[in-house]
Amino acid sequence: MTVDYMLLNEQMEALAQAEGWYVSLFANASALLWETLTDINWAGFYTVEGPDLVLGPFHGKVACIRIPREKGVCGAALRENRTMLVPDVHAFPGHIACDSASRSELVIPLRDRRGKPAAVLDIDSPILNRFSDADREGLETFARIIEKAMKGLSPMEKTVYLAGGCFWGCQKYFDLMDGVIETEVGYANGETENPTYEQVKHGAGHAETVRVVYDPARLPLRELLERYFQVIDPTAVNHQGEDFGVQYRTGIYYADPADASTVADALRDLSRRYDKPLAVENQPLQNFYSAEEYHQKYLEKHPDGYCHIHFD
Ligand code: SME
Repeated sequence: MTVDYMLLNEQMEALAQAEGWYVSLFANASALLWETLTDINWAGFYTVEGPDLVLGPFHGKVACIRIPREKGVCGAALRENRTMLVPDVHAFPGHIACDSASRSELVIPLRDRRGKPAAVLDIDSPILNRFSDADREGLETFARIIEKAMKGLSPMEKTVYLAGGCFWGCQKYFDLMDGVIETEVGYANGETENPTYEQVKHGAGHAETVRVVYDPARLPLRELLERYFQVIDPTAVNHQGEDFGVQYRTGIYYADPADASTVADALRDLSRRYDKPLAVENQPLQNFYSAEEYHQKYLEKHPDGYCHIHFD
């Protein structure tokens, strides 16, 4: 049966947009493959962990938990960084038979957003020569969709959205912190969809915000918030540094409801250090639109550019 890869990949796009954490992403991706592909007996993922590949979400029979990188079709795909289409697994030296029914196999390597080997997608079939070039192409696109959406392999990786005035300086400030993995500037919690900088400047209602991806094992949220408090005037209303306007309000917009109490506690403790009421918003993230490319890492591109934060 021919597979409608266009449809499959549209479905994967939708799932990938809903969640980028690798466990949810891989779990739904394997379920989707299992429902869609005929004549397969295993579809799932192995993730890179030190010298090994470790079993991730899958559908099919119980499987080997660890595969050394130098072994198996999976190891070869990772080492050679290319898809391995194996028409006959018995003819592949080093093939690992987790399920003795497997006869052919397709393995596609996945890289993380820093370009490092992160995982493999492995699909097995009990039929000899099950996978065609069309399958390979369709499934490589499928893998690229997952790769693009994948937030990373550390289940510990977390994201919070912080507005602290002009996002140029804020982004640089967070980029310099140990434990910050990635940042992006954008517009949060406003009315218009996909606003431009000009629209935000003229009151579309968004705050200039930095999406901060961090490793809470190295930088707990509470610590990150304390560092953020050091560079804002938390009592200033719609104003930071030289900048005035609703887009320069301060705010902590959390993506994970479990962070709400940490944010509330941090703001309560901060308020005790001020006589005036705090103006820092404490809200769940409603929306975030990436800012134009020229705003990203602005101070790396323009080291002498305007910055309301003093780095000393
Ligand atoms: N056959 C794979 C091992 C994984 S199982 O098929 C699920 C390999 O040779 O790498």
